[in-house]
Amino acid sequence: MAVYDNDMSFENRIVTPEYTGGDGEGELSLRPRSLSEYIGQDKAKENLSVYIEAAKKRGEALDHVLLYGPPGLGKTTLSGIIANEMGVNLRVTSGPAIERPGDLAALLTNLAEGDLLFIDEIHRLNRSVEEVLYPAMEDYALDIIIGKGPSARSIRIDLPRFTLVGATTRAGGLSAPLRDRFGVILRLELYTPDQLAQIILRSAQILEIPCDQEGAQELAARSRGTPRVANRLLKRVRDFAQVVGDGRITREIVDHALDRLAIDRLGLDDQDRRILSAIIQLYGGGPVGLETLAAAVGEEAVTIEDIYEPYLMQIGFLSRTPRGRCVTPAGYEHLGLRPPVIQESSQQLSLLEEE
Ligand code: ADE
Repeated sequence: MAVYDNDMSFENRIVTPEYTGGDGEGELSLRPRSLSEYIGQDKAKENLSVYIEAAKKRGEALDHVLLYGPPGLGKTTLSGIIANEMGVNLRVTSGPAIERPGDLAALLTNLAEGDLLFIDEIHRLNRSVEEVLYPAMEDYALDIIIGKGPSARSIRIDLPRFTLVGATTRAGGLSAPLRDRFGVILRLELYTPDQLAQIILRSAQILEIPCDQEGAQELAARSRGTPRVANRLLKRVRDFAQVVGDGRITREIVDHALDRLAIDRLGLDDQDRRILSAIIQLYGGGPVGLETLAAAVGEEAVTIEDIYEPYLMQIGFLSRTPRGRCVTPAGYEHLGLRPPVIQESSQQLSLLEEE
């Protein structure tokens, strides 16, 4: 059964890690409010707690923080936690929402001392807006040009000391001058199944859904390393539990519901399988260039790179080589196909031929 009707775009997948309107209010209530409630991302969390405590001791604003990593891992949640732990207000916006330098100036001049400004998708800020951000981040100042031509002059307005938290799917997509102005750069990683099971049990408790350990573990294994996917699947499985089962989330009901949603044992859906199949059937298992692959499966290259690839690589089904993407033997086996046998000597020979 298809998860989507005719529209195969990634936003319509139930396993999309992107925020969809359908996640609604529920997602907000499931968000942890403090670092101690936040499960996973241990490295980022430990370092952050030191920086927060130190900034509080000095009575200063926290240094600017850049969070990067695949979507759905809790960048917005983490910025809310930072604001909460620092005891300051949080303002949330995004790169595409700030169209002109004046929009950013209005946001910045309305901040109070110590406030946290969260800019999601910060790599999508346009150049002229980005330039306003440089002195704001570095000197807490806004340079405003008054007038035009030879009589134009610049005046400087002081801003309150604030913390900018920027979020992006990849740090490499940011210009160097912007990246260099962040004092703290934290990479968020996909979650392990055990961490996701803990998140699912916590969410089930908040939503008052009875869920046993085995059910949570099975759901976790199929949530692509992403809490947002885990929480969304939890709500869908609850529907099946209430209609087909006795309301409890068990391993059997998770199996039943996810089979109906065409999500397999490892959380792959039709589009993931199409990507792997395309590489195998059209390009002999790879290597194939990203753009070529994107055209073959009808997705944009950035969508493949940001949405599909991180998980396929984490589970070891896809590898990225300098010459393109390859399906690994484990990827072949997952699709029920036999991986090609490559003899080492012939592999070396073909490498020599290419040079
Ligand atoms: N809900 C979503 N992400 C979470 C996390 N990292 N910890 C706890 N609950 C969550």
